[in-house]
Amino acid sequence: MSGAEAFDAVDVIRTKRDGGRLADAQIDWVIDAYTRGVVAEEQMAALAMAILLNGMERAEIARWTSAMIASGERMDFSSLSRPTVDKHSTGGVGDKITLPLAPLVAACGLAVPQLSGRGLGHTGGTLDKLESISGWRAALSNEEMLRQLDEVGAVICQAGSGLAPADRKLYALRDVTGTVEAIPLIASSIMSKKIAEGTGALVLDVKVGTGAFMKDIDAARELARTMVELGTDAGVRTRALLTDMSTPLGLTAGNALEVRESVEVLAGGGPPDVVELTVALAREMLEAAQAPGTAGVDPAELLASGAAMDAWRAMIAAQGGDPDAALPVARHTEQVLAPADGVLVGLDALAVGIAAWRLGAGRARKEDAVQAGAGVELHAKPGAEVRAGEPLMTLHTDTPERFERAMAALADAVVVAPAGSRPPERPIVLDRVT
Ligand code: URA
Repeated sequence: MSGAEAFDAVDVIRTKRDGGRLADAQIDWVIDAYTRGVVAEEQMAALAMAILLNGMERAEIARWTSAMIASGERMDFSSLSRPTVDKHSTGGVGDKITLPLAPLVAACGLAVPQLSGRGLGHTGGTLDKLESISGWRAALSNEEMLRQLDEVGAVICQAGSGLAPADRKLYALRDVTGTVEAIPLIASSIMSKKIAEGTGALVLDVKVGTGAFMKDIDAARELARTMVELGTDAGVRTRALLTDMSTPLGLTAGNALEVRESVEVLAGGGPPDVVELTVALAREMLEAAQAPGTAGVDPAELLASGAAMDAWRAMIAAQGGDPDAALPVARHTEQVLAPADGVLVGLDALAVGIAAWRLGAGRARKEDAVQAGAGVELHAKPGAEVRAGEPLMTLHTDTPERFERAMAALADAVVVAPAGSRPPERPIVLDRVT
């Protein structure tokens, strides 16, 4: 330890290892010293594991979040003519909701500043999806972002490296040390970025099920409650929906495949579950924003009228994309067939996510490239009657040697029960936390 440092990292680690509460000054120091490189990666890894095992009190999580915000810049949207509201999903398979949702909420008169990331692991990244549109650009300057928010009302772009840099470093470390799944660390990671982003209101889509971080509803509810409290305490009107991720959302998982499905939703069609969740989240966003001008506005009507499609086209064009360009298509396909006659009662989200990832839709390391056309297209969802030998899924990839590993991921994904069976009832929206 350098003589000028206020604390010793080992003392901080010991406090949490022994189940104690970290003092505010310890938290401020450890985040700052880690960002400066004074606290070593192995020390932060030990502290993250102690937090995972022993938890944190509400006040500790709030202070940890503030310290991560203070590690970087804060954005300021106060000059905008429209009130701001954002949505964050904890990540799921086939979760393309941001794509129709941001332009829909813009069409309702609000500004949606979506600072997004790329996918890592089995859940896709919003930027990867949009980059399958010819010419579309993820990196914008702050000025470009503000102009687009004023003129179009929605922007989906890459978060600048100045926003919560402590989280960037810590998240990469958690990813390789088995410490991602700690509620205080997930909540502070997500909320530090959203609070630093400067949105006035925020709706969280906390996914529950095999394809999500949170496999059971009680853990998801605790995560949602923790994030809603952090947002509310920081002056951001925050609420959360708990939504189902036991089976993929919609009928596609993969970059261009998901863009195609989102455009179908904006054109007034698309799978019913994607439409239902898009409208439910839009209604929450309008309520959270509390903007007088949006009283009585119905997002379902603006989706049906084509107003959301107009906002989508403007949003894509403003970032250099051609909304009329043909989307990339993978060079090879292979089908997965129904194993028996009956009713499809299970189609596992995680297995489909891993298959899409192995086909090339996702990346294993952050420097890997993704294939725009790769992914999984579903032809049936739980509840559908199926016949032995009929196609249940089409797998898409440019590199056919990937089919075998994708098929292996899907080996136990499909459950067909005898005719007359029904899958367990599971609504899309499972609960709401305000
Ligand atoms: N997403 C984040 O940004 N951080 C986490 O810790 C988990 C999901």
